[in-house]
Amino acid sequence: MDLAGLVDWADTVLANTGLDNPRHEARLIVGYGLGISFEQTLRDEACRITKADLSCVLPLICRRVSREPLAHITGIREFWSLDFGVGAECLTPRPDSECVVESALIVLRDGAAEPFVLDLGTGSGCLLLSVLHEFSEAHGIGVDRSYKTVQRAHLNSCLLKLNDRADFIVGDWGASLKHRFDLILCNPPYVRARDISDLMPEVSRYEPWLALDGGYDGLSSFRAIAPQLSRLLVPYGVACIEVGAGQAASVIKLFSEHGLKLHSRRADLAGVERCLMFERLPAM
Ligand SMILES: C[S@@+](CC[C@H](N)C(=O)[O-])C[C@H]1O[C@@H](n2cnc3c(N)ncnc32)[C@H](O)[C@@H]1O
Repeated sequence: MDLAGLVDWADTVLANTGLDNPRHEARLIVGYGLGISFEQTLRDEACRITKADLSCVLPLICRRVSREPLAHITGIREFWSLDFGVGAECLTPRPDSECVVESALIVLRDGAAEPFVLDLGTGSGCLLLSVLHEFSEAHGIGVDRSYKTVQRAHLNSCLLKLNDRADFIVGDWGASLKHRFDLILCNPPYVRARDISDLMPEVSRYEPWLALDGGYDGLSSFRAIAPQLSRLLVPYGVACIEVGAGQAASVIKLFSEHGLKLHSRRADLAGVERCLMFERLPAM
């Protein structure tokens, strides 16, 4: 068998599994298994495949057939054009969440010279690290309930050479924090508990429950975070909060009950209202 034949076979198997882009994924997985780039899988199609090569690729295809996310198999997910190490311990960063980074950069452009940034529920660290990457004067803290997730975020900060400006700690949202921040980022779990099993298998079976479960109505984490934000923000500080489809009105009401004023809102690429920005009123 040559490389083209192996890609064809993997393509057929993944198509039968019902994946959306089987050929693209087949090429990525074959390339990853053989230790060659995606481009090389196109260039070297006539290359002979050995038994040893097959033993590197077949287990990976089997993992994808069982709907393990591609990012867990390759261990990498691109977010904000940066490579983040990912695994079963953290949510795989979503393109939708880039809209939180876009919102944060707009806020930072007009804000403090050396902003102090907090990322609540940091996961892979993708939100905080993307902001620090763009804004070289910023420094910050990422908090997560999960120790393994915090380890992953720290590792990502080292890989991206941002560890001198980013600390990661285990915590229950901002409960243990004594500082005030110029900017807060947060993408909390917001899926209704009863809906999790209906999500695509890559998510329902492989993403951490702690990263998805928003309680009976999807809003439990917002309820926990809302009373903490005013204490954690400097006057006129801004919190950029990711919300699920259809949750904006409830979250705006909830946060306004805790002294936070809606500053602006932003839709993701699909046009879904995804990021709400709240300002701390000075009297709080
Ligand atoms: C939706 S994920 C977001 C991860 C990452 N910020 C991102 O945007 O990809 C939510 C994160 O919140 C964390 N989390 C859940 N409950 C928490 C709590 N009580 N305190 C701190 N973090 C929590 C989860 O472990 C998970 O990493």
